Amino acid sequence: MTGPRQPRPAPWSRGLFLREGAAALALTAFVVVTGGVRADDAADRGRAVYDRCLACHAVAHDRVGPRHCGIKGRRAGGLPGFEYSDAMRAAGFTWNRRTLDRFLADPLEVVPGTTMTYDGIKDGQERRDLVAYLLSLPPCGEPRGR
Ligand code: HEC
Repeated sequence: MTGPRQPRPAPWSRGLFLREGAAALALTAFVVVTGGVRADDAADRGRAVYDRCLACHAVAHDRVGPRHCGIKGRRAGGLPGFEYSDAMRAAGFTWNRRTLDRFLADPLEVVPGTTMTYDGIKDGQERRDLVAYLLSLPPCGEPRGR
């Protein structure tokens, strides 16, 4: 009457599978969470580095230099109404992590003829933090910044 019994999985294999699944999930959550926290930390530290730029720049309005709101994805020299040098207008960059990092390392070398007479941020970590901060700035017109 009774057919052959289905072999039951070894009791430990299911538990092991669940444990592995849970570990993978926990790891994913950990990476997502700490990744997010780390980006925010960098932008926070970068905000302090940005103090060195305040002599000439502000986030929300033009000073000697152009405002930095909405810089992510903007063409270099592309803010309407700001009097850029011909050199900056002709630079041909779009501002992103890589171009900002290069420019800020040595502005006068990267855009010869720029009117940004500033020696640059030589420390790589400070520069990465500063760039994270710049890229975190909201589009112009949104109330935030200084
Ligand atoms: C001595 C004044 C001065 C200081 C200090 C200065 N800048 Fe500038 N910055 C300028 C000027 C002027 C321009 C426009 C340059 C041009 O047209 O060639 C400019 C342009 C820029 C641009 C290009 C913006 C665009 O719209 O294309 C970026 C990015 C920038 N500055 C970032 C910074 C950062 C970040 C700091 C601080 C580490 C800084 N600058 C410090 C004067 C300054």
